[in-house]
Order: sequence, then structure tokens, then C-alpha cells
Amino acid sequence: MKFATTRLAAAVGLSLTLGLAAVTAHAAPIVIKFSHVVADSTPKGQGALKFKELAEAALPGKIEVQVFPNSQLFGDGKEMEALLLGDVHIIAPSLAKFDRYTKKIQIFDLPFLFDDMAAVDRFQASPAGLGLLDSMKSKGIQGLAYWHNGLKQMSDNKDKLARPEDIKGLKFRIQASDVLEAQFRQLGANPQKLAFSEVYQALQTGVVDGAENPWSNIYSQKFHEVQKTIAYTNHGVLDYMVITNSGWWAGLPADVREALQKAMAGATEHANRLAADINERDRQRIADAGKAKIQTLSKEDLAAWRTAMQPVWKKFESGIGKDLIDSAVASNQPS
Ligand code: LMR
Repeated sequence: MKFATTRLAAAVGLSLTLGLAAVTAHAAPIVIKFSHVVADSTPKGQGALKFKELAEAALPGKIEVQVFPNSQLFGDGKEMEALLLGDVHIIAPSLAKFDRYTKKIQIFDLPFLFDDMAAVDRFQASPAGLGLLDSMKSKGIQGLAYWHNGLKQMSDNKDKLARPEDIKGLKFRIQASDVLEAQFRQLGANPQKLAFSEVYQALQTGVVDGAENPWSNIYSQKFHEVQKTIAYTNHGVLDYMVITNSGWWAGLPADVREALQKAMAGATEHANRLAADINERDRQRIADAGKAKIQTLSKEDLAAWRTAMQPVWKKFESGIGKDLIDSAVASNQPS
């Protein structure tokens, strides 16, 4: 009897081992490609790496997250299309790059809408802000999270950049956003939509005179080496929506999707906690490098930029929705 039990146990053990080996041999990990356009050292770069770390730790052997920074795999213009075709699974475009999919997300580009990043955070966490994550479902896009970069600074190749009239007639690189186009036209400048990977060269060769970006992007792309002045304008936000292909997402095994959701929450917390420090660190590095002058602005100068850009709001109000704008404005008040 003892012999039989032992043989039975051995047989069960053997078949379990063989079964597991078969499962292991057949179940290749699900490969998740995460492509973005900035450097690893930026808030988005750090968030993507954190997501990889947390997701792979939660699902050992089941998934592999491949992160492609710096437009290595797909740049602006191509990454959204690639996501819809299933060639990449997660991307995190700037909120300025959703014009073609929904007008509502244009809200984030309205100049001087948010007083600071705490207000941006409150709006993104509000029911109105969270609702936008689901606003492109019909286009096959599912929003997973918002990630911060920070507030944008205006830069150009002139010695003087303090007042809105200083950029009249200059050419400015903008992200693919109609709001940003209107913003620069409102200031009498000439906006030009260019992919992020082309900005350095465009600034260096004088194809454009200036640009707008948070400190972390300016530093990591060396824009400060090809600009004379960076004005501390904080005139708009550059944040991200982390998105996935909704069909691919829905087709994942439920346990995998749940674990990825948790990993995304952890990566979001990490990236958003680091973003302000990274931007402050990079502002300091730019100041230390001494290549471009950092122009601080008086209250009056800042008020002049705000007044000059204000008419842009009205132009986009009907597409975005007055209620949504009101909720964003309300987020400037801590509750
Ligand atoms: C830009 O194009 O300037 C930014 O959207 C790049 C980025 O992803 O931060």
C-alpha cells in the first residue's frame, strides 16, 4: 500500500512537473511595448521605467515590458497610429497631441488656465478630469493615467524676452495643437507644428526662433544650448495621458490587466512625485551651464502675457465645453 501511494505520488509529481514544464515552454511572455519621445531622465522617462519594474515584478515570466525612449521606435505623428495598429501597446503623448481624437483634451493647452501643478493635479483627479480618460474609447483609445511633466517656459534666440511683444514676428515651434497655434498667432508670432525629435535641429539652424517646454525637456534635449533666453513664464502645462489600445487592453487576461493597472498606479505616483524635483533640478542645471539666460519676469510682465493670450480661451470654448473649463478654473482653489 505504502509502495502504491509512493508510486502514485511520484506519478502525480512527475505529471505535474511535466505539465508545468509544458506550460512554461509554451507560455511565452506577453510583450508590452511602451514607446515615448523624451529622455529616460525626464518625469515621463522615469515613469515608463518604473512601470516596467513594477509590472514585471508583479507578473514574473508572464510579461515583458520593452521601453523605447527618445522617439527610437515611433516619434510624434506616428506613435498614435502605431498604437491603433497594435505595433506598440502603451504610449504617453503630451495632452497637446490629442486634437485629432477629441476636442475636450484641448482644455489643457489653454494658456494660464492653471495657477500651479497642484491645481493641475486636482483637476486631473476630479470626476471631470478622470472622465477624459474614457473620452476616446470610440476611437479605440483607452486612457490609463495622467502623468505630470510641468509648466512650460518660453524660449527664443533673442537677448530680450520679457513681454509678449518681444516675440512678435518670430517663428515658434509648437506641438501638434490648434490651441497652441492660436496662442502664438494671438501674440503676432508664427507657429510651426514640428515633431519633438526635430526641435533641436530646427532651433539650431534657425528654422524656428523659439519654442516652449518645461525645464526637463529643455535640458535633456539641450535646447538651452541653441537658445539665448528662456523666460520663466509658466504660461501653460505640459502633461501626459498614458494611453493604450482599448481592444488590446480588453483582450488581456483579467489577472494580467489588473496587475498592469496596479503597476500603472504605482508608476503614476512615482512619476508625479518626481516631476517637480526633476524640473527644478534641470532649471538649476541650465542656470549653471550658463548658455542661455534665464529671464525672470515681474508681476506686470506676467500679467501682460496673460492678458495677451486670454482671447484664445473664447475661441476654443465651444469645442471644449464651458462646464469643463469652469471645473478646471475651480481646481485653482484648494478644496
Ligand atoms: C513636445 O513635443 O514638446 C513634448 O510633447 C514632448 C514630450 O513628450 O514631453
